Amino acid sequence: MPRARHSRCNTPLRVLHVAAEIYPWVKTGGLGDVVAALPAALAAHGADVRLCLPGFPALLDAAPAREVVRLATPFAIERVRIGLAQLPGQPPAYIVDQPSLYDRPGNPYTGPTGADWPDNHRRFALLSWVAAALAAGADPSWRPAIVHGHDWHAGLAPAYLRASGSAAASVFTVHNLAYQGFFPASVFGELGLPPEFFAMHGVEYFGGVSLLKAGLFYADRLTTVSPTYAAEIQTPAFGANLDGLLRARRAILRGILNGVDPKVWNPSSDPALPLAYGVDDAETGKAAAKAELQRRLGLARNEAAPLFGAITRLTPQKGMDLLLSAVPGLVERGAQLALLGSGDGGLEAGFAAAASAYPGRVAGIFGYDENLSRLIFAGADVVVVPSRFEPCGLTQLYALRYGALPLVRRTGGLADTVADATPDALGEGSATGFAFDEESAAGLLAAAGRALVLYGKQADWRRMIRRAMTRDFSWDAAARQYLALYRELVPVPA
Ligand code: ADP
Ligand code: GLC
Repeated sequence: MPRARHSRCNTPLRVLHVAAEIYPWVKTGGLGDVVAALPAALAAHGADVRLCLPGFPALLDAAPAREVVRLATPFAIERVRIGLAQLPGQPPAYIVDQPSLYDRPGNPYTGPTGADWPDNHRRFALLSWVAAALAAGADPSWRPAIVHGHDWHAGLAPAYLRASGSAAASVFTVHNLAYQGFFPASVFGELGLPPEFFAMHGVEYFGGVSLLKAGLFYADRLTTVSPTYAAEIQTPAFGANLDGLLRARRAILRGILNGVDPKVWNPSSDPALPLAYGVDDAETGKAAAKAELQRRLGLARNEAAPLFGAITRLTPQKGMDLLLSAVPGLVERGAQLALLGSGDGGLEAGFAAAASAYPGRVAGIFGYDENLSRLIFAGADVVVVPSRFEPCGLTQLYALRYGALPLVRRTGGLADTVADATPDALGEGSATGFAFDEESAAGLLAAAGRALVLYGKQADWRRMIRRAMTRDFSWDAAARQYLALYRELVPVPA
């Protein structure tokens, strides 16, 4: 276990992480993976970390929650029950046990039809309000010095802390600026905030209320999940009309790269793979996974065909329309494609049509399938991530670890984590993938063309796989940076 830098300090730093998702119980994307890994990594460094999570049924089923306190709230609900639960492998978690708000079908944000719940402002205001109540001593046995919220779901926590004059400091991490938690002005009265908080210098955003902006405006420190995205969101092109605020607050904004949890993402211990493998036997392990993938997806059983994979939410962010337009060009060059994704109906239909047009060459699987995602990371030669923007991106990190070389658009965390196979990078052995700039199928195909040339030079390809698999994107490094940030707010006592 790494030695904590501040281990000589007798009072560990108490940090409360507030979030809507945590893998494997509640996950719609990378946020769930991060919340499952970062707090635990901080705890391994000696911080006294707890979680604050909505009482979704999957969490209540996973671990019994012992009642800590019942609180009267400013919201039109009965006294809310706060439980403390021990989810396996996690720091202790405060669970906001309010079935009327959280015991619902669908994902954390939408109902079964995919529509946002109309009372999402109240569902997530309550989560943030409880975090602030804990900072005010709602559980007398544990009171955080820092409240660290993730994404708009926890955006109001810094606002409630400010409104209550709390001594606790706040950190707010943006995982995706495109999801803003925007509501009409009429909800403001339900939030229990002082009237003056509904202002341009406050939670007001284009006449409505933005929970994301609340976090950006009131937090003591802001972070996002890669250095490049931290710079990008300060520009009009990526700033979602919040770039002015982010520029104004740039002195307290940091980009800290996400990591990969080797307990969860590891080809040498992944039960979803037909054959475990590490760096030294990647060739056999990956060949077995590729054969299994081709069999399962009805792709031609051809070991030599370069197999491109994609695992993604189907939203405009992810650039899968570029991949769809590139399909004929990829197939023409002898490649196969396995896409696992869910979301936009038009894109699903487009990939389904491509699969019919190129039987045995293109497969589209629509839905969320964790085991299949792992088989694709292992069996693919290339994983395509052509995002228009990407705060960090985890699929390219998992691809690297499983020896599938990422082909990415050079943006956000993709730019920070994938070393393009330029002649120089190949020469010095640092190349781990392929990057392109132009937001078009032609840009993607040009990079794919370079990948296919290298795929034909198996010695070079194997060298890249080795380099990719041994790149270290550890949570340990991220945890150190977050701890240093916390210590700016709560210095080590002399
Ligand atoms: P984002 O959070 O923007 O969706 P990330 O790359 O950070 O992007 O994280 C996505 C996470 O969700 C990864 O763990 C990825 O493997 C997983 N994922 C995305 N789509 C699917 C799917 N259809 N089936 C299984 N896992 C998926
Ligand atoms: C968001 C981003 C993604 C990032 C993830 C975890 O969902 O879209 O790029 O990896 O959060 O931080």
